[in-house]
Amino acid sequence: MAVYKEAPANATAPQKLLNWVDNRFPLSKLYNEHVGEYYAPKNFNFFYIFGSLAMLVLVIQITTGIFLVMHYKPDASLAFASVEYIMRDVPGGWIIRYMHSTGASAFFIVVYLHMFRGLIYGSYRKPRELVWIFGCGIFLCLMAEAFMGYLLPWGQMSYWGAQVIVNLFAAVPFVGPDLALLIRGDYVVGDATLNRFFSFHVIAVPLVLLGLVAAHIIALHEVGSNNPDGVEIKAKKNEKGVPLDGIPFHPFYTVHDIFAASVFLLIFSAVVFFAPEGGGYFLEYNNYIEANPLKTPAHIAPVWYFTPFYSMLRATNDLLVNVLCVILAAAGVMGLVKGGFNAMGKIALAIGVIVAVFLLKTFDAKFWGVVVMGGAVIILFFLPWLDRSQVKSIRYRPDWHKYVYGVFVFFFLVLGYLGAQPPSDVGNYVSQVGTLLYFGFFLLMPWWSRLGHFRPVPDRVTFAAH
Ligand code: HEM
Repeated sequence: MAVYKEAPANATAPQKLLNWVDNRFPLSKLYNEHVGEYYAPKNFNFFYIFGSLAMLVLVIQITTGIFLVMHYKPDASLAFASVEYIMRDVPGGWIIRYMHSTGASAFFIVVYLHMFRGLIYGSYRKPRELVWIFGCGIFLCLMAEAFMGYLLPWGQMSYWGAQVIVNLFAAVPFVGPDLALLIRGDYVVGDATLNRFFSFHVIAVPLVLLGLVAAHIIALHEVGSNNPDGVEIKAKKNEKGVPLDGIPFHPFYTVHDIFAASVFLLIFSAVVFFAPEGGGYFLEYNNYIEANPLKTPAHIAPVWYFTPFYSMLRATNDLLVNVLCVILAAAGVMGLVKGGFNAMGKIALAIGVIVAVFLLKTFDAKFWGVVVMGGAVIILFFLPWLDRSQVKSIRYRPDWHKYVYGVFVFFFLVLGYLGAQPPSDVGNYVSQVGTLLYFGFFLLMPWWSRLGHFRPVPDRVTFAAH
């Protein structure tokens, strides 16, 4: 046990109280490590507000969620009416509900921008691999949380969206139908499904999410923040061990983040008060109609934040599977001719390609669609090892790398747009190109990220006082 430290004789009552607590719980130590003496790079820019904003939205979601649960009924015959009751009769119910539904979209906007920042500044690279991996875990949890939450209002889109997505699990070879049954708890989406989704949405997933967010911050504060230059500020410290380019989180970044939170809340309130449906993207119009298992809506689309991945699922048909077989075979031949493998290596490569093509052709394209959709998220976990560029930040990469990132983001947005539209032939071809580019971006990264002329990275961060 640490030695008990007495408070100075002239200490004030609050100081004595703090001293009493500090002798029993590391309150000041935690505050200093994570706020008062956490030295963050002084050159943070706009993109560095989204971590704090994500925390703010998390708090909004949990708080509004607690109040919603007080009036919501997780019962297939009562759920829809209970949401209407919250909207019309519960005092303040409408604002709580709109904050929660708008919060879901806000969460994804903020998190997508937060991830984009990590991508362009190479914040996932050594030593921040775990920060990134915990982040990817958070992203997965968020998707599960949003998906299960969307069933709860028990509208047409809630019902049919869940039906479509849960049915996808049935495409998994051998265990699929049993797996789908296990998830639904019934042969169709029904009361049992609503109950289990409610339980996961309200307690199980949020618990994991909170644990992951804590791990995310602890890991980040262990290694220190990256910055737009990708320079490690801990490499240059003064005699007291303080990074020369670091400034204490409080007051510098608390002020920065409070300002960002204020602007965010202005925009957030504008949406909550004036456009809570977000043009049908935040709350779909079909969801104002109660779930009817006997009437399938003409056009089922997930909420906007899932649509890029949904597009990839729809794009994976027999044609795309055939294209993948051709790409694999071509890559195999290239590997044999130019790969520099020895005889054993060549045999292993040839067998690998044959087995992969065999599997691709054996299982249904629908199953590969599920694999593609899941793989699009899982591949993010591997980013720290896929990127082999000499520098972290986009600022010092060859100019053409910026276009590669630009094309990636553009197609991600196009996939998002197409996923919200009814299926069409042209849309499907574009989605197939988008899907190939998405995976090409990541899978070929070990190759392309090394190429080109890199600019020298400065020793110290670039910063103009303002
Ligand atoms: C609930 C969701 C999340 C919360 C509350 C959260 C919170 C934070 C906070 C507070 C920071 C430090 C401030 C900043 O750099 O912006 C941070 C940094 C970071 N986060 Fe997240 N995060 C979340 C999701 C994610 C996701 C989904 C990813 C990636 C897949 C991610 C990757 C990172 C990375 C790489 C950093 C370090 C950035 C740097 O130092 O340049 N985070 N996060």
